Amino acid sequence: MIKVRVPATSANLGPGFDCVGIALDLYNEFYFYDQKETPPEGCQTLLENSLAHRAVAHFARYFRERTPQVNIAVKGNVPPSRGLGSSATLTVAGIIAANLIFQANLPEQKLIELASQLEGHPDNAAPALCGGLVVSLMTSQGLVYKKIMPGKPLKAVVAVPDFELATSEARKVLPSLISHKDAVNNTGRFGFFMTSLLTGDYRFLSVAMEDFLHQPYRMPLVPGLDRVIKEAVSKGALGSCLSGAGPSILAFADQEEEAIARIMVDTWKEYNIEAKAYILNIAS
Ligand code: HSE
Repeated sequence: MIKVRVPATSANLGPGFDCVGIALDLYNEFYFYDQKETPPEGCQTLLENSLAHRAVAHFARYFRERTPQVNIAVKGNVPPSRGLGSSATLTVAGIIAANLIFQANLPEQKLIELASQLEGHPDNAAPALCGGLVVSLMTSQGLVYKKIMPGKPLKAVVAVPDFELATSEARKVLPSLISHKDAVNNTGRFGFFMTSLLTGDYRFLSVAMEDFLHQPYRMPLVPGLDRVIKEAVSKGALGSCLSGAGPSILAFADQEEEAIARIMVDTWKEYNIEAKAYILNIAS
């Protein structure tokens, strides 16, 4: 039996749409097993066309092998369809397991690339595979990526609301063109965001985590988004943003995490939204 543990991830982090994500210490555990084996108690067996099965098949095609018959079960902690990379955990688990099944020993870069082909963007798959905060980009020469750890310790406070939002729906609302002004707004902020994270000087993180490419367009899909972000920052969060395609909201903090979590949950209550807050470390 092969066991693979894959962390939750939060993509975009404000201005880094489709090209940055961070791994969080909340995990889905996957078991890949054959007919003679049984997965541990409390696992949920995945259907044969699950994303994890499709990832194994994708790997097999790339490796020019026949898709192996494999059963997959999961012990899940990552809330699904909440902008915390739950589907990436399935895809990445499938790719990692296939690498072991075929004893292919492919390098990390290739594994991220294969997972990203299925995901459509690398910003969840890359940190799910290598941990930390990862900037990643699909280029004509293949995937380029770089992992860093924050210059000074940070916690992620994540408020997860009681409703789901499919990434496909949250991508439909995005415009196909944006103005030059908004592009410049984001470039500057992403530069500041990365500089802050690298140096551990978080003074400008709140402004650096503003976004003009996706968050404003997704606001109607996540009632209270703006308010929850503002209240989190008013309680001492260093910066806050929509987590991935939403609907969860992430705030970075180096103090007052409990108070920040509470105000995020309480603010959402004003919109009749029940939320659960997690205070998480960055998974390395
Ligand atoms: N970058 C992707 C999006 C992340 O915002 O649509 C999806 O988890």
